[in-house]
Order: sequence, then structure tokens, then C-alpha cells
Amino acid sequence: MRVAVLGCGAIGGDVARAVRDGAVPGAELVGVVHAASADPPDLPVLDVDTATRRADLVVECAGQRALAEHGPSIVDSGTGLLVVSVGALADDALAAKLRTGPGALHLCTGAVGGLDLLSAAAPGLDAVRIVTTKKATTLVQPWMDERQTARIRAATGPLELMRGPARQVTAAFPASANVAASVALAVGDWDRVEAAVVADPNAPMTSHVITARGAAGRYRFEIGNRPSERNPATSGIVAHAVLAAVARLARPGGRFA
Ligand SMILES: NC(=O)c1ccc[n+]([C@@H]2O[C@H](COP(=O)([O-])OP(=O)(O)OC[C@H]3O[C@@H](n4cnc5c(N)ncnc54)[C@H](O)[C@@H]3O)[C@@H](O)[C@H]2O)c1
Repeated sequence: MRVAVLGCGAIGGDVARAVRDGAVPGAELVGVVHAASADPPDLPVLDVDTATRRADLVVECAGQRALAEHGPSIVDSGTGLLVVSVGALADDALAAKLRTGPGALHLCTGAVGGLDLLSAAAPGLDAVRIVTTKKATTLVQPWMDERQTARIRAATGPLELMRGPARQVTAAFPASANVAASVALAVGDWDRVEAAVVADPNAPMTSHVITARGAAGRYRFEIGNRPSERNPATSGIVAHAVLAAVARLARPGGRFA
């Protein structure tokens, strides 16, 4: 399977180098597409059209805006697309375009787990919540006013920044609340999932606590991820989740589906 990586930052850079170095049997790197001023010296750089033409699978690691910009033309060309910025699918029109194909749309589990069980239990679930706690400074957003930004920077303990439907929260924190979208996509309902984002200056790890209950049972998943050394807003595990997804697509069979 020929793989191109869209976005060569903390996640995409690690993914591209691992695929280049043969870490994923059955997958080879054709190149990376990036938006930074300097090319990565050690990776083949392509424009997005060439990458789409040469690859069987484009792996999006570039953010929700880049996915909205390039995703539709990638699937339209028949090339597969593996998405890490799943929060972009909160836009129903974009999600419909990406699902139309003919290229197949695949979603990466990213920073969280338990999505398979939530998906299985979804028809009977009546309350689903995800609370994400991150280092305070990584949660400052361009739409925040000065007072709110100052409050986050001065926080000495946990501070809840937003609580609401997953669709609203993932749009407000596009680089930090893709996990809320992952849970909503697993459950198949953007409005049934309540998401909260908490800023904590003392959080040693990024945590996600997912709780759900309903006819099938009661569920609680607690995840503590170490932040990536290259981007503290991202967890180091995400690149590994992408590589696991590429491995499943490159050599299907004998793995959890
Ligand atoms: N699903 C999850 O659990 C999860 C977790 C963490 C991050 N994410 C998503 O992954 C994205 C990437 O995370 P990261 O830590 O690698 O970010 P990063 O900022 O380190 O890297 C993003 C890279 O994408 C590039 N880019 C931006 N727009 C582009 C475009 N139009 N074309 C090509 N390249 C473009 C940037 O130049 C940058 O190099 C985040 O924005 C977030 O949406 C998802």
C-alpha cells in the first residue's frame, strides 16, 4: 500500500518516518505534503495532487481546516483517506462529501480507546460523557477574549473551560477535542455525547475520562496520555494509533476489526 502523509508535524512527521523506515509491513511512503516554509530535509515532499495520484492512502495529520480543504478531492479521486482530525466531521456537509467516495474514508482512533465497545452498546446508551483535561496553556484559543486567556494562564488548579454537546466542543477546540468527536462518531450521535474541556496547569498527562450507561451496561474508560515532546497539545500515542491503523489497512486479517 502506497502511503502519503498530509501534514508533517508532531504526528505526521513520526508517521511518515516510521512508514519510510519499514515499520509497517505492506506499506511504503510515497511522500509528505506540508504547509511549513521549510521542507523536512529527510522526507520526500509532494504537492497534494501528486500525493493523491501516487498514493493508495493519504493519511491526514494536518488539522481540521486542512482536512476540509483537501479531503473531498482526495476521496473524489478514488484514493483512500485516513483521518486523524475527526472533529472536522462535525460539519455534516463535509462528512457527507467525505463518505461519498469513491475513495474509502477511514477514521483513526487517535488518543482514545473503548470506541469499539461504545459503538456496540450505542443503541442502548442514554448518557455518554467525555471529560478531557490538558495542560492549561495548550487550550488557549484564538476566539477567547483577553480576560479568559489571562484566567487560563493564571490558573493554579483545574478550570472547566467548556461543557456542551460534542459537536460544539470539538469545533471550539479543533486541535484538542478531536476525542469528543471520536466518541460522538462511535456512538453515532453528536448531540447525545456531552463533552467537557478542563485546563489544569499541574496536569502531568492529558487525561480523557469517558463514561456511558444504558441498557447494555455501565462503562468507564480512563486514559492518561503523555504529551508529545514536539507538540504538548497532542499526545505521543496518536502517531502510534495512526501507524496501527495503517497496518490494519495494509495487511487486513487476523486483527481486531
Ligand atoms: N484524533 C485524535 O485523538 C487527535 C489527537 C491529537 C491531534 N489530532 C489532530 O491532529 C492534527 C495534527 O496534530 P499535530 O500535533 O501533528 O499538529 P502539528 O501542528 O504538530 O502539525 C500539523 C502539520 O500540518 C501542517 N499543515 C497544516 N495545514 C496544512 C495543509 N493545508 N496542507 C499540508 N500541511 C498542512 C502544518 O504545517 C504542520 O506541520 C491536530 O490539528 C488535530 O486535529 C487528533
